[in-house]
Amino acid sequence: MSSIKKIIVVGSGIAALSFAKTISENCQVIIMTKKQFSSSNSMLAQGGIAAAFSAHDSIQQHVEDTLAAGCDHNDERIVQEIVRLGKHLVEQLVAEGFPFDQHESGVPQLGKEGAHTTHRILHAGGDQTGKTLVQFLKSQLGSHIHLYENHHVIDLLIHEGTCKGVVWKDEKGHVHTMTADAVVLSTGGCGSLYETNTNDPSVTGDGLMMAYRAGAQLVDLEFVQFHPTLLTISGKAVGLVSEAVRGEGAYLEDETGRRIMKGIHPQADLAPRDVVARAIFHEQQLGHHLYLNIHDIPHFSARFPAIYAMCQRAGVDMASGRLPISPGMHFLMGGISVNEYGETTVPSLFAIGEAACTGLHGANRLASNSLLEGLVLGSKAAQRMKQLPKQKETSPAFSIEEVWSVPMLSRTEMSQWMTTYAAIVRDEKGLQTLLHTLQQVSFQQMNVKDITNEQVELSNQWALAVCLVKSALLRTESRGGHYRMDYPKRNDAFWRGKQIVHEKGHMHIMKNERIGAKWNVYS
Ligand code: SIN
Repeated sequence: MSSIKKIIVVGSGIAALSFAKTISENCQVIIMTKKQFSSSNSMLAQGGIAAAFSAHDSIQQHVEDTLAAGCDHNDERIVQEIVRLGKHLVEQLVAEGFPFDQHESGVPQLGKEGAHTTHRILHAGGDQTGKTLVQFLKSQLGSHIHLYENHHVIDLLIHEGTCKGVVWKDEKGHVHTMTADAVVLSTGGCGSLYETNTNDPSVTGDGLMMAYRAGAQLVDLEFVQFHPTLLTISGKAVGLVSEAVRGEGAYLEDETGRRIMKGIHPQADLAPRDVVARAIFHEQQLGHHLYLNIHDIPHFSARFPAIYAMCQRAGVDMASGRLPISPGMHFLMGGISVNEYGETTVPSLFAIGEAACTGLHGANRLASNSLLEGLVLGSKAAQRMKQLPKQKETSPAFSIEEVWSVPMLSRTEMSQWMTTYAAIVRDEKGLQTLLHTLQQVSFQQMNVKDITNEQVELSNQWALAVCLVKSALLRTESRGGHYRMDYPKRNDAFWRGKQIVHEKGHMHIMKNERIGAKWNVYS
């Protein structure tokens, strides 16, 4: 038996690439992605990487901002660790020549985004940090890393409770299996559950539901982040306008020029995202049209080249200095419950990036903390692999005759329902209606070899939507990205430190001593 460990990574964003960069050459790594290598949320990330680089900043201040944005639902030990290690990895990128945007003096330019108390966001290519980082990390990969595009992983191979590999479909729909010593899910969140979102269309919650079927825990699914500013033309979202634009002085106004964030929050236009998204939603309910006023930003086209090009393509009159915007689903704070190494509760199954829930983001993610988390967790998972023994060879059972239940509804229908009832503002009546509607859907039984890739995605989306809506119904309070009109306040007396867990077909409330507690209290 070869001593080389074989690891399958599903997904090709920053977390996957950070894992691949760090993993020992004694491992063989197969990165499988269901579309092209470039089909990931990371490629679309305009915002940058948050790291305490300024002389006026500190690790502790970055931690405090993360905890404040997360509404006391974070795991402070994880926050401390990711912020500290993340800064170290960013320094390493600088040393390796990563082209962060710099001042003429060679000092990195630091931008500001919502809920940060100081300038701490590093960017590359102005508003193309994710794409630049993906390309940079890809160029660093060794020959032990193999990239397989158009390999749609549809399920995990589980033998006696341990993950042993994956089931995947090729472009022609043929089913295959591949065994491995460990599987790392880096499949992103579930933006496509909502009509308007900033995600790559391939992000359909697959990793979460594969992990769930394998017995892993899903937590915090009710915490969904809506980005306040998507360029919106004739009611249709065209793409993201980074929060960094507000960091450079843009502000939100209505059709009359009234600044809507004044008096709502001390940080006004740079308040935490959940606060800004709700304020916009409220104004829209009153019939107002919302704009981002960019008049005060000099050299907009040079500072934000991709956003400028998108506005031009969409026919926005840039001379007006106003970009029409509305909010859209951006990020899932919850996900597959993992420890600080990305290990799930299923042996040999890891999750990293947005698919995972480490406790860093709490109930509302601080802007530009996700690339940071991807870098750190990818690297830590790779280091952890060294300690894992090579698995005994087994032939996990998988039948080509396996039958799946496929919901008979369209992706459009489901995303419209989710947007109507489980988006920025929720209440019991709407969530009950939604749950009932989802549960009324009929199913067809299909053999796994006949099921299309779209039907696999739809099955995952439907099952994830049901879990998310059940969590949103159960959490009878408002916190961060979960706002209940019928419970508009935080209820610390009951909910502080509690997580809603989905596991093996059941949902329960779990008290997690590390959530919302001061680290020095439990350390
Ligand atoms: C943005 O550029 O506004 C998005 C950054 C992020 O979500 O972290």
